Amino acid sequence: MILDIIDKKRLGKELSYKELYTIFNGYLNGDVADYQMSSLLMAICINGMTDEEIFALTKIFIDSGDVLEFADIPGVKVDKHSTGGIGDKTTFVVVPIVASLGIPVIKMCGRGLGYTGGTIDKIESIKGYKVDLSEKEIIKQVHEIGAVITGQTADLVPMDKKIYALRDVTSTVSSIPLIASSIMSKKIADGADKILIDIKVGKGALLKTKEDAKELENLMKKIGKIYDKEVRCIISDMDTPLGYAIGNSLEVLEAIDVLKGKEKDNNFYDLCIKIATEMVSMGLNISNEEAVVKVLESIESKKAYNKFLEIVEYQKGDIKSITVSNNSYKVKANKSGVLKKIDALEIGKLSLSLGAGKVDIDDTIDYTVGVKLNKLVDERVKKGDVLAIIYVNKPITDIKIDKIFTIE
Ligand code: URA
Repeated sequence: MILDIIDKKRLGKELSYKELYTIFNGYLNGDVADYQMSSLLMAICINGMTDEEIFALTKIFIDSGDVLEFADIPGVKVDKHSTGGIGDKTTFVVVPIVASLGIPVIKMCGRGLGYTGGTIDKIESIKGYKVDLSEKEIIKQVHEIGAVITGQTADLVPMDKKIYALRDVTSTVSSIPLIASSIMSKKIADGADKILIDIKVGKGALLKTKEDAKELENLMKKIGKIYDKEVRCIISDMDTPLGYAIGNSLEVLEAIDVLKGKEKDNNFYDLCIKIATEMVSMGLNISNEEAVVKVLESIESKKAYNKFLEIVEYQKGDIKSITVSNNSYKVKANKSGVLKKIDALEIGKLSLSLGAGKVDIDDTIDYTVGVKLNKLVDERVKKGDVLAIIYVNKPITDIKIDKIFTIE
């Protein structure tokens, strides 16, 4: 039976709900082996899925765990998700902005995958910060302060956790149908009314082309419609890292700079404003033009910054504990010209090799290391100018400076 299902997909035929249910639930229960599921995932990657199959798979994912109910929390609950990128710390800026405007936000985040850091790993660079809140604690916190940034509860779409881990090691992460089911099942199960998805495209992203991003957008909107959830998408560039910091503590500090109004005029600030604007527009049912005024005012008045401090304090984090390594190297320009490119993927690899993420499952994360860019794309640089500072705790031998920075 299992072999028949795999064979059917290998031949590019459509699987029924029952067939998908049998093999995916069998895998969750341990009756289907890793090698069988890997084979099916690869057949899906190569042959794709019909819309009906994707809708069925999303339902099977959602039904594998709890569906959270936040009906008694007043207001439209708005959520965001990013498909993952290098230097992406938008959650730390966007959630406080949106919550400071009276819109409840329950943000459940993941850990790092591949070269991209995870939001939960990043916020753990604040000592004491609790990332494993129960459903009861989440509801209490949202009632009291209007926002939560936490890890996913254990029973939220357990099938995605198991399948994602397998996709990660079988080169099946970038399948658009699998990405759509994975993201939308979590967003629907975590109880939000409206959802903003930031789809990243480029060298440092899962999706490499705008066409693929558009296809994912259309699919996620169709799934949202079935569950009566408004879904909006932003397609954003991931050829270049977001902002100037890559690495856990460094990224939280950069987010704080934006919240304090100290950092503007770069791709990270612009994306935060764009995402927050869409979320506020959905949450308050107002136009984007009206929403952006409120978003900017929330930063200028420090309401968003104070909301961030409130979240950290409520979740027992010590904001003063964020530290960056005392050991650093300067990377200098080897010629003069215009900085044309900063390669997101190469920076992600470098940051991972410093210890900012896990290479093996048993590795521990070093929160204090990472890369701080001193120059951004399109800036003119002179030979000898500092392009980046690399914070380390172990000797580094091989920085591929010409692969990371392109000066012309
Ligand atoms: N993010 C997810 O949650 N799932 C995917 O499959 C890809 C990105």
